[in-house]
Amino acid sequence: APPPSVRIIEVGPRDGLQNISNVVPTRVKVELIERLSRAGLRSIEPTSFVSPKWVPQLADAPEVMRAISGLVKQQAAPGTGRDAAYPVLVPNVKGLEAAVKAGARDIGLFISASEGFSRKNINCSIAESLERMHKVVEKALPLGIRVRAYISCIFYCPYDGPTDPSRVLALTQKLLDMGCYEVSLGDTLGVGSPAQVRRLLGVLLPHVPVARLAAHFHDTYGQAVANAVAAYELGVRTFDSSVAGLGGCPYSPGAKGNLSSEDIVYTFHQMGIATGVDLDELVRTGHWISQQIGIPNGSRAGAAIYTK
Ligand code: HMG
Ligand code: MG
Repeated sequence: APPPSVRIIEVGPRDGLQNISNVVPTRVKVELIERLSRAGLRSIEPTSFVSPKWVPQLADAPEVMRAISGLVKQQAAPGTGRDAAYPVLVPNVKGLEAAVKAGARDIGLFISASEGFSRKNINCSIAESLERMHKVVEKALPLGIRVRAYISCIFYCPYDGPTDPSRVLALTQKLLDMGCYEVSLGDTLGVGSPAQVRRLLGVLLPHVPVARLAAHFHDTYGQAVANAVAAYELGVRTFDSSVAGLGGCPYSPGAKGNLSSEDIVYTFHQMGIATGVDLDELVRTGHWISQQIGIPNGSRAGAAIYTK
């Protein structure tokens, strides 16, 4: 039998574009999402409903959602599976309300495992952040909105240093208990290596169903593909990645892009693992967006395949 398939969540339009200094026109963002969809990506994070004072790059979130409303409507009905999801990041009830008004059916909440990053990223403590999340979830679930959650700084915080895995476990359990369908484990700074992936999952897996976890690696130290493979070997089947390796958080200085979608799709296909993604189409999309925003293609596989 073939090895179990994976679900790739493309975060380039959000994590990728939230941190670049060039202004990306709304129509380019929309075309990016459409191209990614044509490349077979069923789950794409299109944008964030955060404060435009904090992340001006994504201030056009309502326009982006309006332009992709056809894709969003194709989403599976609640409870029928995880296919075709367009989760938008939401930091508070204000963000939820704006997202719902713009037609979002899936949201992504985000919290940090470390106090320092929490303060810098969302200007509150972890405890306050949990309270905000509770308020969002209480309003979202009755509307049939599906709620995903991110935990940042799973290994290391740019302000507080190393993260104790037990903190990540405690938060993961709280988020699942709250009603989030999945918790995405974020190595925000991109410093973790497979040894740390195994250590963290060793702490989580006795207590948390692996099907409720996703992995979100940044590639600062070139470890993202290795980390994803290590997570796969321990049963994780959902991976956040970014076309052309775009990405980085404005409040995580020095962090590089996300795990590149082209790189991880290449790796999984080489392992005989189905992703549902058309790698050649994805590679063309990575080349196209790199040209549009005027930065070198951050995907090694993408650059290699494109020039072959
Ligand atoms: P604050 O300044 O403490 O809160 O920001 P506030 O309530 O005083 O709001 C400030 C202003 O923003 C007000 O406007 C609000 O109305 C407005 P003013 O009255 O001054 O005109 N505002 C909003 N506007 C639109 N949408 C909203 C919203 N909320 C408030 N939702 C806040 C607190 C949380 C809002 C702010 O810190 C924020 O937006 N932070 C977001 C930071 C962010 O997006 N970071 C990147 C995403 S996280 C990430 O990348 C990590 C991840 O990839 C995983 C990983 O790699 O680890 C997910
Ligand atoms: Mg990220």
